[in-house]
Amino acid sequence: MNPRNKGKLKDADAVGRVGNPICGDIMYIYIKVKNGKIEKIGWETMGCAAAIATSSMLSELAKGKSLEEAMKITRDDIADALDGLPPIKMHCSNLAAEGLHKAIENYLHKDEKIKELMKVVDKKDAEALFKAGITSLEELKKAHMEEIANAVSKEGMEKIREFLKDER
Ligand code: FES
Repeated sequence: MNPRNKGKLKDADAVGRVGNPICGDIMYIYIKVKNGKIEKIGWETMGCAAAIATSSMLSELAKGKSLEEAMKITRDDIADALDGLPPIKMHCSNLAAEGLHKAIENYLHKDEKIKELMKVVDKKDAEALFKAGITSLEELKKAHMEEIANAVSKEGMEKIREFLKDER
């Protein structure tokens, strides 16, 4: 297997970060959009071989598509393109499609998402969280502390700790 488009996109416009509740694996789908089309796509998958294969196939399927078309890619499309996956692995391919849809959604609602994060941190840190794929307060509550700390400034981290203290 030769995974395609693997890796983080430095100049991504949006990220879809999804976790698999069944196995705990995590996946990031990065998109760069130009003229309403997915110009570039990248992915990082901390998961099984099927999740890697589906991320790779998804990236091939989505590249060059309009956001509307890309939104319609389903896990079955990905599994079909891979000549089928064993049923037990279907949840892994679901992850890739979900990650892409989430990235598109984040892209389309970027301003609102950043505004929501700005209820807790300043604009710069809100943007940093958005870039890390943490795009709502709900996700902030669920994200790992290290992941958050890697994204935001020290002051931001303090504000987030304060916020989570009341929430957790
Ligand atoms: Fe976790 Fe496949 S077993 S994504």
